[in-house]
Amino acid sequence: MPLSAQRRFQSDRIGEFRESVIREMTRLALLNGAVNLAQGFPDFPAPAQIKAAAQQAIAEDWNQYPITWGSKPLRNAISETYRRFYGLEIDPEREITVCCGATEGMIAALLALINPGDEVVVFEPFYENYWPDSQLSGAICRYVALRPPAWTFDPAELRAAFGPRTRAVILNTPNNPTGRVFSHEEVKALAELCEEFDALLITDEIYEHIVFDGERHVPPITIGSAARERSVVVNSLSKTFSVTGWRVGWVIAPPDLTASIRKVHDFLTVGAPTPLQQAGVAALGMPDSYFAELAASYEVKRDRMLEILENAGFHCYVPKGAYYIMCAIDAFDFPDDVAFCRHLVEEIGVAAVPGSSFFSDPADGRNLVRFCFAKKEETFELARLRFNRLKG
Ligand SMILES: Cc1ncc(COP(=O)(O)O)c(C=O)c1O
Repeated sequence: MPLSAQRRFQSDRIGEFRESVIREMTRLALLNGAVNLAQGFPDFPAPAQIKAAAQQAIAEDWNQYPITWGSKPLRNAISETYRRFYGLEIDPEREITVCCGATEGMIAALLALINPGDEVVVFEPFYENYWPDSQLSGAICRYVALRPPAWTFDPAELRAAFGPRTRAVILNTPNNPTGRVFSHEEVKALAELCEEFDALLITDEIYEHIVFDGERHVPPITIGSAARERSVVVNSLSKTFSVTGWRVGWVIAPPDLTASIRKVHDFLTVGAPTPLQQAGVAALGMPDSYFAELAASYEVKRDRMLEILENAGFHCYVPKGAYYIMCAIDAFDFPDDVAFCRHLVEEIGVAAVPGSSFFSDPADGRNLVRFCFAKKEETFELARLRFNRLKG
């Protein structure tokens, strides 16, 4: 019997790829009319000024291919943002590549800077794209556990993950899914290890402005000149401005590395949407109060969601940043996280992400689920009512 077309023509590179569990949960949420607390996007509007800037850019005919590494006004605005928040001087001509979201930024950076067989240190649980990204670039992941309740790591375990083949570390802070905000000491220790092993420090800082309880986000690139030389910062408009569908992100890296990343980026996507790059200039130019209010409003949402989840019987690990809550489900009598999430979406009417999707070994996440709290009050209230059914 002939092999199916998929098996005959699928490349070996993606042989082990699974359907994204998060997107699968969103599909099931739609099918069952469930409240979607699975996928990480806001269900409330983006700021009016930013939307107006996008509309104006189209009206003004910013409609053709941009300069491949990003429109000059946006690169200037990105550079100005790092000066404003971190006192850093980033050269918009030689150190910034604008991409289609952090998603493209990460894969473009890995394809440009990693050779097949190189090792990449990844903290676990991890944002689900890092594993496929490493597969596409041929990297081998070395995992370092973040352990509840505070999702800290063992420094000895981190050191043991480094070796002669280590090419890079991928650090996501503030962290999805745990909500961990890495401390200055941790970031410094990591930067020192990267220097000792001559590795790159690739950081995903997409939740940089969403931090709570007086925590402060520490971009590793600010730690000192050695870290500056080996930092590759991936970021985007998606979370800070509630525009996950705009697909505008960027990578900051020293000039030589940027030259390599730009080559890959050019052939992958040419460029991010031109009018939305223009709108990005307006977004990054928002006053300081916008960024402070963003964090404050998400802190209120976090507390609201914590209250709902705890009342429903979940054991919550309180996040210090980003917009997710990881919960233990031991109190519920289910064989694992996937069975629990299926029950939740099909019978209770709430979609969540099974914890196993954030681990290399699914068994490590079998008692965890993740909820997204980038939601409006009506959604919280609906979820609260639905969870009453869970208590029975
Ligand atoms: C840690 C992390 N990085 C990257 C992304 C995707 O970012 P973008 O929309 O800029 O591609 C997400 C989205 O959920 C995320 O949580």
